[in-house]
Amino acid sequence: MYTQAMDTAAREGHASAPELAPTEREQRFEARIAAGEYVESKDWMPDHYRRTLVRQISQHAHSEIVGMLPEGNWITRAPTLKRKAILLAKVQDEGGHGLYLYAAAETLGTSRDEMIEALHNGQAKYSSIFNYPTLTWADVGVIGWLVDGAAIMNQIPLCRCSYGPYARAMIRVCREESFHQRQGFDALYAMMSQGTQAQRDMVQEAVNRWWWPSLMMFGPPDGESTHSEQSMRWGIKRIGNDELRQKFIDAAVEQAKVLGVDLQDPQLKWNPERGHHDHGPIDWDEFWRVVGGDGPCNRDRLAARVRAREEGAWVREAAMAHARKRAACDAAAQAA
Ligand SMILES: [Fe+2]
Ligand SMILES: [Fe+2]
Repeated sequence: MYTQAMDTAAREGHASAPELAPTEREQRFEARIAAGEYVESKDWMPDHYRRTLVRQISQHAHSEIVGMLPEGNWITRAPTLKRKAILLAKVQDEGGHGLYLYAAAETLGTSRDEMIEALHNGQAKYSSIFNYPTLTWADVGVIGWLVDGAAIMNQIPLCRCSYGPYARAMIRVCREESFHQRQGFDALYAMMSQGTQAQRDMVQEAVNRWWWPSLMMFGPPDGESTHSEQSMRWGIKRIGNDELRQKFIDAAVEQAKVLGVDLQDPQLKWNPERGHHDHGPIDWDEFWRVVGGDGPCNRDRLAARVRAREEGAWVREAAMAHARKRAACDAAAQAA
């Protein structure tokens, strides 16, 4: 996920729900969550919990679907049959993740049409990382290594999210994400260890462009993250943005050494007292600019999704007509 970086509602001018004295029902609900129980779709839940989840799960679903676009751009230009087959499978996986997640959000009583409408009219966000372009083949490897790598860090705690349908969807998603991460690393390692100098330069140039946006995927520092505290209490979010970002940096530094790439941060160094790597400042102005709609590819990405929805309308209509015909046949067979 792609979800930490989207805790942005207050920044966009949506008022957060007023703090009310918890009713007995709410207290019982919070006690269930504190005891580690899962909430299921038919259980009572506070309205704000339901809305928070619909927002988070639908934005996660949108991110998976929009995330198919930057890499899909390279399927026809993959350098070998093997890389093409891997990339096709990966992009299909992302489509599948979107479908599980839309289905999980639908269990909360919001239709897929409503969610897609919110994406298309700009009300709902998707992860800003997908508003950056894929300029070279190395970008596909770097997305697998860093973007899917950051997604795994974000998503593993969601396998223990308090809402059962979301948590269960995330278990399968995470397994597939680790394949995505490894295929990206493998593609880069092939170029760095056996490639030409031009290929090694291409990998380094792609790392230069993706490193900082990957760190932004964890969202703003915890103190500025709008929904963090409530989401923690409700077991929707288990680990803070800064801690996850730090874990990602510590892992990536070691992997970068194996690849032989530079992470473009002169302040990146091991701090023995903290037991972690220190890093340079993140450009949050860039982050908010891209979240706000002014990234390099925001308009293209949204236009591509709207076009796909319009061009696919006949498929949805045909599927509905087929389902109605089938239901009518079944009803007739039962009546006979
Ligand atoms: Fe995914
Ligand atoms: Fe992925």
